[in-house]
Amino acid sequence: MPSPADGLITTDLDVALDRLRHGGLVAIPTETVYGLAADAEQPDAVGRIFEVKGRPRDHPLIVHVAGLDAIDGWTSSVPEAARTLGRTCWPGPLTMLLPRGERATDAVTGGRPTVGLRAPAHPLTHELLERFGGGLAAPSANRFGKVSPTSAEHVLHDLAEFLVPGRDAILDGGPSLVGVESTIVDLTVEPPQVLRAGAIDADEIGRLLATAVAEATGPSRASGMLEAHYEPDCLVVLADSVEAAERRVDAARADGLAADLLDRTDDVVLAAQLLYADLRDADRRGLAELVVVLPPATGIGVAIRDRLTKAAAGGARRRPSRDG
Ligand code: TXA
Ligand code: MG
Repeated sequence: MPSPADGLITTDLDVALDRLRHGGLVAIPTETVYGLAADAEQPDAVGRIFEVKGRPRDHPLIVHVAGLDAIDGWTSSVPEAARTLGRTCWPGPLTMLLPRGERATDAVTGGRPTVGLRAPAHPLTHELLERFGGGLAAPSANRFGKVSPTSAEHVLHDLAEFLVPGRDAILDGGPSLVGVESTIVDLTVEPPQVLRAGAIDADEIGRLLATAVAEATGPSRASGMLEAHYEPDCLVVLADSVEAAERRVDAARADGLAADLLDRTDDVVLAAQLLYADLRDADRRGLAELVVVLPPATGIGVAIRDRLTKAAAGGARRRPSRDG
């Protein structure tokens, strides 16, 4: 019997290119998470991204390009800061918000005056972008509000029922190595502001630009900054220490709940890489509660804490508090 993977998962760049040129959707591997890509200059194809994701239309999409040489037309001006960051961080996990150019349509920017640009480092997707030539609009390839995908299997699990074999594809490039979404820095404001934490932290950007950089505060303009996001079905509970986590797991089990502890604080790089697979695993195992020990808020630990806080916010909202 054919599995749903037949006709969707591929490692063939020619197939991916053909689908994109014909207005299809292709899930692309990146070093951060898998993206759901369409030709950014085909409005119908971009429109289907929102349908497949179940995402509100006014949420802007990042345009993925091969590199600094490919941003002509996507932005109306390239400030020196963008050249500096592009030279040092691209291809890599950094998205820059810049004034939009004529190629960036309202469908992509959600009608905003800015466009988010990123050159991903995954070799397969880098080659795809070089051969494609244009820009690929791509959000993370998960249903809106849910856990991001870091493998082709995750994408298949989430989106198989919405993708059409022969029209769309999932390009399999193995597991994502960074594991959390790109850092987003807004270069249209003074000083530059980090809107979403990622592998490249605000200190590093500040060092590269030799200027102060503001961290995200107050209501952000990025949808990934919604309070609840990255939500698994199980309740995510945050703990500041292993001891606190163990107490919480014991209490949950005493209540008859399937609960477990996740502690990857000894290796934050691995913790980021496996974060979304760990959250998905908790659901696959049917856990009611996953108690996670938070890493220190430095480097990529800031991004891990950000995603976990949002994963936990959803559960806290959905369920009556067990703590009274
Ligand atoms: O690592 C990543 O950035 C991944 C991979 C696929 O590149 N993409 C990703 O896309 O995380 P998405 O759509 O899940 O998250 C992008 C975030 C959203 O919160 C969106 O609102 C924000 O970036 N964004 C994009 N363009 C923007 C703009 N012009 N102004 C403000 N926020 C923007
Ligand atoms: Mg996302």
